[in-house]
Amino acid sequence: MDSLLIHGGQTLVGQLRVSGAKNAALPILAATLLTDAKTIVRNLPHLHDITTMVELLGSLGAELMVDEKLGIEVNGATVNKLRAPYELVKTMRASILVLGPLLARFGEVDVSFPGGCAIGSRPVDLHLKGLEAMGAEIRIEEGYIKARREGRLRGAEITLETVTVGGTENLLMAATLAEGKTVIRNAAREPEVVDLANCLCAMGARISGIGSSTLEIEGVARLNGADYTVMPDRIEAGTYLVAVAATGGRVRLEGAVPHHLDIVLEKLREASASIEIGSDWIELDMQGRRPSAVAITTGPYPGFPTDMQAQFTALNTIADGVGRVTETVFENRLVQTHEMNRMGAKISIEGNMAIIVGTEKLKGAPVMASDLRASASLVIAGLVAEGQTRVDRIYHIDRGYECIEEKLQSLGADIRRQPG
Ligand code: UD1
Repeated sequence: MDSLLIHGGQTLVGQLRVSGAKNAALPILAATLLTDAKTIVRNLPHLHDITTMVELLGSLGAELMVDEKLGIEVNGATVNKLRAPYELVKTMRASILVLGPLLARFGEVDVSFPGGCAIGSRPVDLHLKGLEAMGAEIRIEEGYIKARREGRLRGAEITLETVTVGGTENLLMAATLAEGKTVIRNAAREPEVVDLANCLCAMGARISGIGSSTLEIEGVARLNGADYTVMPDRIEAGTYLVAVAATGGRVRLEGAVPHHLDIVLEKLREASASIEIGSDWIELDMQGRRPSAVAITTGPYPGFPTDMQAQFTALNTIADGVGRVTETVFENRLVQTHEMNRMGAKISIEGNMAIIVGTEKLKGAPVMASDLRASASLVIAGLVAEGQTRVDRIYHIDRGYECIEEKLQSLGADIRRQPG
């Protein structure tokens, strides 16, 4: 298994271009299954999770044409297998996103049940309840979710008990082809949900309330294809901002959407960063300062993103003061703190809160990544630690960060991949 070798201590300075958003690209690729027309999706990031979703579309029978500029044309007319197998679903939970589209278009689909994962039990009960409210019959058999519906799904009033990104996306996609009107209340408002909704509208869906917590969908009998460009990745952007801030450096991010990062930028300013923004760029300058400790509490958008929590925990380890990080979205998402303590961090856990007493220096150590964002936080810790840090199990990182070592090298980091 590959690892990343980092010699910490460099101040990161430079510019980067933000990649397309993984968490928008995955549902948008799933949405191509809603139509028998050709759909072009552009600005896909070059990541394992995207390859897995593309493989899944191919295994369902979709004809695919990939261009050299990270665009893909999906021909939904050739889809003829209605089963997402365990082998693919087990490597990527987001495979569950084909459930809504295939059920809505074909009235039938089997999707392997996604298992637990490192950041909590992550059930899909709300996806299933919502589809049942739309008239689907759902059985769980031999590890598969088997969903059936004679004729079209029917519009329904659905109130989600918990704000769920994937659940909102699955039900939104299903509702576009249902008969009549669907209302989804307590819907997720994440920019990635908005990007999916915009893509669906480009395909001819009728959705109102986009970006709010109540989505209203007037079902149509058929969707068209579209040519859609995926939004920039706010979590990738935020991760590089934190990495640079932790080293006291300076960076300009091109192709970012600053308002998607409002709360993250606010917390970075609180951590002593000077930040300027334009319509599609963000500049951060720490002017060599040591960051100040910050308190964060994760929550659904527009709250602080759980996917940025681990990176801010890393920032707090070397900050001036005591930082408190409260995780309210996922259980077990503070596990990386044990690895950081092996690097000399002073983190204690109380329930779902990490209390981080900032220290001047971390010390390099071999550490192991447990999930995608936790791996990124260990890389950040490695960048500020004295000596060598080896981050093992970086396949997690490759699921979500395009060319991470090249991007960090271009900012002056001493980081390389060691094939293993
Ligand atoms: C998505 C993101 C992930 C991010 C998360 C929260 C993708 C591919 N992944 O994951 O990076 O961390 O949003 O912003 O977009 N829940 C239920 N029942 C359900 C569904 C969810 O109880 O049926 C709970 C989950 O256990 C969790 C909370 O709802 O506690 C939020 O999960 P959800 O928003 O669904 O996360 P994902 O869509 O899996």
